[in-house]
Amino acid sequence: MQNLDWGNLGFEVRRTNAVIVSKFKDGKWSEPEVCKDLDITLNVYAGVLHYSNSCFEGLKAFRGADGKVRLFRPDENAKRMARAGQFLDMAYPSEEMFVKMCLMCVKENLDFLPPYGYNASMYLRPLLIGSNPQLNLLTSTEVTFIVMGNPVGSYSGAAALTSVNAVICRDYDRAAPNGTGSYKLSANYAPSFRAYNLAHAAGYKELLFLDSATHTKIDEFGSSNFFGIKGDSYITPLSNSVLPSITNKSLQTIAEDFGLKVEKRAIPLEELPELEEVNACGTAVVITPIWNIVDKPFIQSEEITADYKYAEPGVCGVTSAKLYKQIRAIQDGLEADIHNWCVEL
Ligand code: PLP
Ligand code: COI
Repeated sequence: MQNLDWGNLGFEVRRTNAVIVSKFKDGKWSEPEVCKDLDITLNVYAGVLHYSNSCFEGLKAFRGADGKVRLFRPDENAKRMARAGQFLDMAYPSEEMFVKMCLMCVKENLDFLPPYGYNASMYLRPLLIGSNPQLNLLTSTEVTFIVMGNPVGSYSGAAALTSVNAVICRDYDRAAPNGTGSYKLSANYAPSFRAYNLAHAAGYKELLFLDSATHTKIDEFGSSNFFGIKGDSYITPLSNSVLPSITNKSLQTIAEDFGLKVEKRAIPLEELPELEEVNACGTAVVITPIWNIVDKPFIQSEEITADYKYAEPGVCGVTSAKLYKQIRAIQDGLEADIHNWCVEL
């Protein structure tokens, strides 16, 4: 095992043993290779560098309480990447190849897979990039698929289930109404960095995006889905510009297992005061409870038009904490995996 401070990993890049690489050329994928050199060579005209011919995934591998290594729902990530690959009109890995390369990556970097008990895991980052040289605006004919893995702990640096504040983003939209928001394209992310910097400078940890067409409904946070708890309902936006989160999908199933009613529907801003608990959810964070959402004309504005409170700062709602504990217990092998979500190494 590597000698890392497993309890304080954060969400940083670490130089691990290897990445797994396969290249698509002349209509076929090469046999996946273990590549010890993490610095790859790309032609300066590679499509990914200019036109963002690229999509990626994020999933986690866990070392369980029973010593087994589990990947959480890699088949779902494979399907989502296939959907993005189809959208980009690019070659993409089959589900079998995707899962195989994720498992290879974990195996090659086993000494970086955090031990059980530190609330840490290995974040796997499958990346699909257009790599043939091009100047013209065309889809890529040569594609490189790389799976890398990083030991990670808390995304925010805070202890699990520490609630944070959020501001509604009225300065910028995340996704056009018939745009790319529901695909995990690399190009979706850079456009939110400035808004995040403004929000952080103004003292907000999270940014909540609205539907771009009308700015009247909740879409999602910049890198995680939105869900709220109202009575015995789990409510999450139905929108075609939101990324279909695998964490959200899993939490919905767990909510139903617990007897909650799942409502996937438009959430108008007017409903925010009625929600009892609000959370951001995604692979990296699992659940980030939101204690406060502020609405203002623009992020740096002094004027506040609405202020919704769900908890005291740092505190998480009871139902949300229950859902979190269950999903983490399944990932750690402490609870029976009744839905067959985990793939063992
Ligand atoms: N929404 C966005 C925009 C994301 O980037 C992510 C992270 O991948 C999510 C939601 C959460 O999705 P998942 O739970 O599949 O990680
Ligand atoms: C997630 O995995 O939940 C993310 O949003 C990852 C992020 C770093 C893009």
